[in-house]
Amino acid sequence: MSHDPIKVLLIEDNPGDARLIREMLAEARGTPTEVECADRLSPGLERLAAGDIDVLLLDLSLPDGQGLDVCMRARREAPDVPIVVLTGLDDEVMAARTLQIGAQDYLVKGQVDSRLLLRSIRYAIERKQAQEQLQRSQLLASLGEMTAGIAHEVNNPLGSVLLYAELLLSSDLPTPIKKDLKVIHDEAKRAARIMTELLTYSRRVEPRTRRLNLHSVLKKVLDMRQYEEKVHNIAVAANRLDGQLYVKGDSTQLTQVFMNLILNAEEALRESNGGNIVVTTQIEGEWVKVSVADDGTGIPEENLERVFYPFFTTKRVGEGTGLGLSVCYGIVTSHGGLIHAENNEMGGATFTVALPLAPSRREVSPPREAKKTSLVNE
Ligand SMILES: Nc1ncnc2c1ncn2[C@@H]1O[C@H](COP(=O)(O)OP(=O)(O)OP(=O)(O)O)[C@@H](O)[C@H]1O
Ligand SMILES: [Mg+2]
Repeated sequence: MSHDPIKVLLIEDNPGDARLIREMLAEARGTPTEVECADRLSPGLERLAAGDIDVLLLDLSLPDGQGLDVCMRARREAPDVPIVVLTGLDDEVMAARTLQIGAQDYLVKGQVDSRLLLRSIRYAIERKQAQEQLQRSQLLASLGEMTAGIAHEVNNPLGSVLLYAELLLSSDLPTPIKKDLKVIHDEAKRAARIMTELLTYSRRVEPRTRRLNLHSVLKKVLDMRQYEEKVHNIAVAANRLDGQLYVKGDSTQLTQVFMNLILNAEEALRESNGGNIVVTTQIEGEWVKVSVADDGTGIPEENLERVFYPFFTTKRVGEGTGLGLSVCYGIVTSHGGLIHAENNEMGGATFTVALPLAPSRREVSPPREAKKTSLVNE
């Protein structure tokens, strides 16, 4: 968690109430805040639209706006900013209704102290994040449903195309026709591969789980990429992968996850003619976290969630299908895990996969804190 001050925008026309709120926030220990004030809705909304506000404290009774409409306009202006509504005693019923149109919490003026105010602000921020996370996973789940339907419907006719192309290829036909048939066959195969990836994303390919050593999976992936990385001037560092780190998983599917992450990191680095990839494993409670970090291009903030959507790609046509990370998402979630993308201080991207540790025998070496050493590609 960062210790940057929480940036609060207060839209409140009553100078006495505004001063009181400022004082309460200044009093609050441990959590620094920066407060900006607007005494009417319009300049408040303008400030909100300019960005960089962590939470909005919103009076519902303003000279240029009243009641639910105030809350709706604020929500429309900045859908990502959590809102705490400030209300009088006589307005409490309406304040409660604002929770249904997007406010995260409400406080009754005159019944607030510094501790309660700060708790409400923190709660609103966390609640908003949790709601967004839920919306994202619901969106990914419904995309999954849709793609599963499409993939299922397309797979059958595609199977017939492949079968007949293969039959014709094995028959006695003039070479030019066979050449054309080969194109049909190869393209149908490519489409079938995409369909399989879509089914994996939509979790229609059940993992065949067994107890496996995650370090072996990672080592295998790194070994497979060693040559290409050397050629492209990419150095890979990993914490020691010789110890054992057990999860319950499907080794082919998990290999695919880490292979996709490494390939993406390599691709980001190729644009800058080489660089570094750092692979780290770490145990945290009942989880193992594997992160793959690079110092490549990084990911624009607005794409950090979208990279997991099927067919989202920034690569040129023909260079990427945009399915790599959606497949990772499908596999990791079907293993009961989580996957997350962020930018790192090296300027590149870090992908973190968290998987539940296998229930027993998990305290085999290496010790809990994985040691970091430089390694691999020399
Ligand atoms: N390590 C990374 N650094 C910067 N951008 C990345 C990184 N990993 C993924 N991305 C971004 O996420 C997008 C989606 O990645 P994903 O693996 O799903 O598809 P792709 O790599 O474009 O195509 P495919 O994997 O199907 O060949 C990429 O096009 C790229 O914009
Ligand atoms: Mg990819």
